[in-house]
Amino acid sequence: MSNDNKISNPSPSKDGSSFAEICARRYSRRDVLRVGAAASAAFALGSLSGCSSEQEVSSAELANSNWRSENPYRSAYDFVEIQHGMDEHHHVAPDHQAQVLLRWGDPLFKHAPEFDPTAQTLDSQLQQFGYNNDYIGYVALEPKKGQDARALLCVNHEYPIHGLMFPGFGANDSISAEQVKISQAACGASVVEVNCKDGIWEVNLDSVYNRRITSLDTEMEITGPAAGHSRMRTNADRSGRKVLGTLNNCAGGITPWGTYLTCEENFNYCFGGELPENHPETANHERYNVPLGWMHWDKHDARFDISHEPNEPNRFGWVVEIDPFNPKSKPKKRTALGRFKHEGGENIIATDGRLVIYMGDDQNFEYLYKFISRDPVNLGNPKANRDLLDHGTLYVAKFYDEGYLEWLPIEHSQGPLSAHFDSQADVLIEPRRAADLLGATPMDRPEDVVPNAKTGKVYVMLTNNTKRKTPNVANPRAANVFGHIIEISELDNNHAQTRGYWDMLVKGGDHKNKDHDAYFHPETSENGWFASPDNGAIDPTGRLWVSTDQGPKANLTGTNDGLWSLETEGPLRGMSKMFFRVPMGAEMSGPVFADDGESLFLAVQHPGDIEERPGSARIETASTRWPDFAESMPPRPSVVVVTRKNGGRIG
Ligand code: FEO
Ligand code: CA
Ligand code: CA
Repeated sequence: MSNDNKISNPSPSKDGSSFAEICARRYSRRDVLRVGAAASAAFALGSLSGCSSEQEVSSAELANSNWRSENPYRSAYDFVEIQHGMDEHHHVAPDHQAQVLLRWGDPLFKHAPEFDPTAQTLDSQLQQFGYNNDYIGYVALEPKKGQDARALLCVNHEYPIHGLMFPGFGANDSISAEQVKISQAACGASVVEVNCKDGIWEVNLDSVYNRRITSLDTEMEITGPAAGHSRMRTNADRSGRKVLGTLNNCAGGITPWGTYLTCEENFNYCFGGELPENHPETANHERYNVPLGWMHWDKHDARFDISHEPNEPNRFGWVVEIDPFNPKSKPKKRTALGRFKHEGGENIIATDGRLVIYMGDDQNFEYLYKFISRDPVNLGNPKANRDLLDHGTLYVAKFYDEGYLEWLPIEHSQGPLSAHFDSQADVLIEPRRAADLLGATPMDRPEDVVPNAKTGKVYVMLTNNTKRKTPNVANPRAANVFGHIIEISELDNNHAQTRGYWDMLVKGGDHKNKDHDAYFHPETSENGWFASPDNGAIDPTGRLWVSTDQGPKANLTGTNDGLWSLETEGPLRGMSKMFFRVPMGAEMSGPVFADDGESLFLAVQHPGDIEERPGSARIETASTRWPDFAESMPPRPSVVVVTRKNGGRIG
């Protein structure tokens, strides 16, 4: 990687191989086999990017059957798929069961009050499970014995929907001071111990680990290069190193040393007010769409009014590291990972032992990033990794149409950056602007980015971008309604490399409808295709699962969101099947498997919502009252755990 930003024609290979040779290697790495021409009912499989390969496979080999190691032409998944559809209930594949484990308002502590939607208080919400569960991290407390297990779930509570939280809620800007506090307390995160006894999961209200982290008042430390910078200081915090709360926690990750990364995404929702004219933060706030004012918190909490606190938004949009084993520990905002609308923080250890965290910036035309730690992970002594995330390099992806990509370091010394920023701290507060200057590839809303430790491949969920007029190589559809998934293979299968290959795995939408310009494996069923991929999960055997968030675009596909399996290897690559479907108005998030692959935790977020923008949904007119279906209960975002009816591996 040169330091002068001249990257117009890099060789993708350090050994100078031709592209044809690289393609051949890529496909031999995938162990793609060729079936003889004698196979009946043959069809061709094509790759969507620079390399293409054709394999002929008998349809008879595509039966819903067992694991590919037994037969590479068979599905890696073993379940009968469910149908697309839209109704008030959740649905799971036959032979599986879905148990509602934790609902918004459920007590997290022994003496916490039961949820009463008509008598919500700040004090009760602080002791109860939060609103709009998104990411779920699973941290085992002890190895599973028979059917018994103990684990911590680390759950994000992304944002409030006041009309679905407060019965009889009026106009959005009529929110009361007490409701603002409850709303701020309902967001953030929960750490909660769950126990499995005889195959049934339940919350342990006696656990010493249970904890609520909020947007209201949980004290956090700002660490890394931007800590203490003048742009991080406010009237309440002259040090620029202390902040109350975390905002819009979307997806996340669990580090190899067992800490929980929760990622601040649409923090701009929470700010209101107006900057004074010619304020130095004007361009920054415009780029991050601050303020959006959807939460109306600024009406009763001046710190969310940028006319009072113009720097407060700079203290959000970070990745926060939380020690789930110590409920008294102070969460840390790790500024070395950059400030943007962080979707997730899934991570993997590179061949040299350093940690690599893959991260999307979820907004139209924003970028794909990864962070590489300076120091290797110490697996023998978790405490030695205490400050690991404060030192390292942030990179942004540039895609080339020959099927390779380059990771550009976002360092103050690189190319034009020193002329536009005063320090690395300054760069990390606005990596979007730095990425523009470096010539990174603007993407169609990068969401979860999921490395697969079994194969080394990395899956990038790109949810949609209807505003795109001009396609680029990695975002090939104008007005991209249905999203797509890119697969990255880092050079030499080393995640600390700054070059790699990429390939299109699927393009969302109905692949049999020409107007959708979608791509899935041609044998994918009429229920198997999906749209707007958001989160990904790799199960313990290395299989990929994808959850979706279409918002109101569900009306175009005719199905609610859900969870799909998606083949990544061999002749069935690109074939997906529908496994779980959420009730009306909800999105599917948080998929995570227990270590044995026999329990799957899912987050059903905002059931009953009707709008892309939080604001107009109301309990009284909600499209579902899932999961309680009681006149006295609003629809409640909830964590669901899926198991196989007679035990055994999911899917
Ligand atoms: Fe909160 Fe990008 O979904
Ligand atoms: Ca998401
Ligand atoms: Ca989402």
